[in-house]
Amino acid sequence: MYEFVYCTPTKVVFGENAESKLGGLLKEYGAKKVLLHYGGGSALKGGLLTRVRWLLEEDGIAFVELGGVKPNPRLSLVEEGVALCKSEGVDFIVAIGGGSVIDSAKAIGMAIGTGCAPWDLYSGGAKPSATLPVGVILTLSASGSEMSNSSVITNDYTQVKKGCTAEVSRPVFAILNPALTFTVPPYATACGCADIAMHTMERYLSGGNSLRVTDAIGEEIVRTVTACAKQLVKNPQDYEARANVMWAGSLSHNGLTGCGGDGGDWATHTLGHELSALYDVAHGAALTALWGAWARYVYRNVLGRFYTFAVQAMGVRPNGSKEEIALKGIEAVEDWFRAIGLPTSIGGLGITLTDEQVRDMAHRCAEHCGGVKGSCVALKEEDMYEIYKAAL
Ligand code: NZQ
Ligand code: ZN
Repeated sequence: MYEFVYCTPTKVVFGENAESKLGGLLKEYGAKKVLLHYGGGSALKGGLLTRVRWLLEEDGIAFVELGGVKPNPRLSLVEEGVALCKSEGVDFIVAIGGGSVIDSAKAIGMAIGTGCAPWDLYSGGAKPSATLPVGVILTLSASGSEMSNSSVITNDYTQVKKGCTAEVSRPVFAILNPALTFTVPPYATACGCADIAMHTMERYLSGGNSLRVTDAIGEEIVRTVTACAKQLVKNPQDYEARANVMWAGSLSHNGLTGCGGDGGDWATHTLGHELSALYDVAHGAALTALWGAWARYVYRNVLGRFYTFAVQAMGVRPNGSKEEIALKGIEAVEDWFRAIGLPTSIGGLGITLTDEQVRDMAHRCAEHCGGVKGSCVALKEEDMYEIYKAAL
């Protein structure tokens, strides 16, 4: 077990109608003027935004609004948010949405906190050392951003998608009401469940050793999310399934499933970000399109981890050689992706790429991650090219 620091300061307020506690939470954190940040129609359609406005008015908390966050959130809207917060004297941001809205809120908060241009925080040009506090009302279980220390923004001037990891960016509170996710469409629900599983798998299927406690938590998260995702295909309004997926999503990416590990592999996420940036693919679907190709490329190097994962998390019977079981585990993951309606290839996303485009994507991917990525195998540009090609 490697040494680690585990600190998740986000206050979680979980349950039906949890958003009714918003005013009290904002007062607790001393908010004077709030930015309500949200995406497209979903916050409006179910009446959530209207309820939030009423709650703030009742509690006498001033607010301004900025909607329009798109999936794969754009730098240009972050810049708009920074200007708005400065001109309005905003001292607290409430993100109402999924990972894209939360990440956009984190970017705005950090740009104001540090006083630097937002993209400098993502390109490595500035240190994300301070932020405006961010609170979350989660409407989509997926990214884990409601408790995570990271955010991912797409620079829509250059089509580069990059993450920023900073402890200051963990939200101060997260309101988790599973009923708010009833309206998430099947494809987005499936993408979210895949992302949750992947956040654990990126840490589990890595170059680290086996870890009894951490592995058991990760295995249960994967078992839970794979089972509940199938239940949600049949009944999107299954409260218990939504609730378990929501909690699994937060735990999967708040650091818990990596305690004692080697930091995780994260190559699938890195390869996926490039696909999302260039072709505007939903994050979860980008991961499932690439994962099988990545797994088959690297599994021999960390056979023990793939074997244990297959047996403990995917329920593969341990009959056969370690390699056979590991491969059955990879197939079981891909079967699950397909069962919930997700692609297992780039072609499955409806995207056809020429060899030149694949080479370009691999080149950009290597460039944006500093040349090498992954702990199962340290992938270089040529490896990335092979994985993208195998995923076509
Ligand atoms: O814009 P609206 O109308 O809100 O629609 C959204 C969006 O179209 C919709 N949606 C959200 N809540 C809904 C709903 N539709 C109906 N009912 C509801 N209750 O869902 C669509 C997708 O939303 P988005 O926020 O983009 O999805 P997700 O939560 O998967 O976030 C994806 C982003 O998070 C990043 C990804 O790269 C991607 O940019 N990630 C962030 C991480 C982090 N900060 O820790 C880690 C992740 O690995 C990931 O990289
Ligand atoms: Zn993810």
